[in-house]
Amino acid sequence: MTDADPSERVSSGISGLDEMLRGGFFKGTANVVSGDSGTGKTIFGTQFIAEGAKNGEKVMCIITSEESKSIVKEMKTSFGWNLEEYVEQGLLTFVDITDPSLRLQKSVEIAPSELIKSFKKLIESKIEDIQPTRIFIDSVEALFLAIESNYKLRTLIDDVFSVFRKHNVTSVITVGAMFGLDEMVEYGADSVIKLGRIMAGNNLQRSIYVMKMRGSGTINEVRVLSISDSGMSVLAQSPYLE
Ligand SMILES: Nc1ncnc2c1ncn2[C@@H]1O[C@H](COP(=O)(O)OP(=O)(O)O)[C@@H](O)[C@H]1O
Ligand SMILES: [Mg+2]
Repeated sequence: MTDADPSERVSSGISGLDEMLRGGFFKGTANVVSGDSGTGKTIFGTQFIAEGAKNGEKVMCIITSEESKSIVKEMKTSFGWNLEEYVEQGLLTFVDITDPSLRLQKSVEIAPSELIKSFKKLIESKIEDIQPTRIFIDSVEALFLAIESNYKLRTLIDDVFSVFRKHNVTSVITVGAMFGLDEMVEYGADSVIKLGRIMAGNNLQRSIYVMKMRGSGTINEVRVLSISDSGMSVLAQSPYLE
């Protein structure tokens, strides 16, 4: 397997990760980041879109739950990142689907599959409107959890992911480990990155690995994921004690 044409690749914005991906994500793909609560999914996605905005690209962040609403505030207190600046410069657009004005919030009157169909329509029209190069969806649990049939779930996930491929937008989609939903979402993705924690002696280490990447070789190692005041990076070492 040779390294792919760099013009087809998009930097993840996370130091050390592009090497694991052999150059970054493929343009116009759906890339899932999964892991338990607190493993760094939101930081990952934010760093991914900030990388684009930093280079003058238009980027979009889709907030799907109350939990992800505090993202601007948290990124400021965690790392001193000022996402509002990108918003003011017209580079970053937040789409908050929990906003009642969008009438997309989970409601007893709307069937879950209808909710996802309207979500798909909404992001498609926003993409056509804004023409972003990168999208971050934090996260898809709230959207997909109410779908009871796995078959239906697969179809709906494929449906949503196809929007990014069609419009050549590179996306990062986070999903928490929850009732097997993460596995279903991972199944439809072009790449899957797993974040976690590992016990190394008495130490708790953050870990990262690339579970799959369609069309590319990857570095098949579990590596140490570092989160510090300057953000997230991948170290070229294993979290397991030698
Ligand atoms: N400045 C920092 N230095 C080190 N760790 C941090 C810093 N800011 C946040 N974190 C860690 O990042 C974690 C949150 O990551 P987050 O992306 O919100 O996780 P998830 O979205 O997977 O729930 C926090 O639990 C905290 O431990
Ligand atoms: Mg989160």
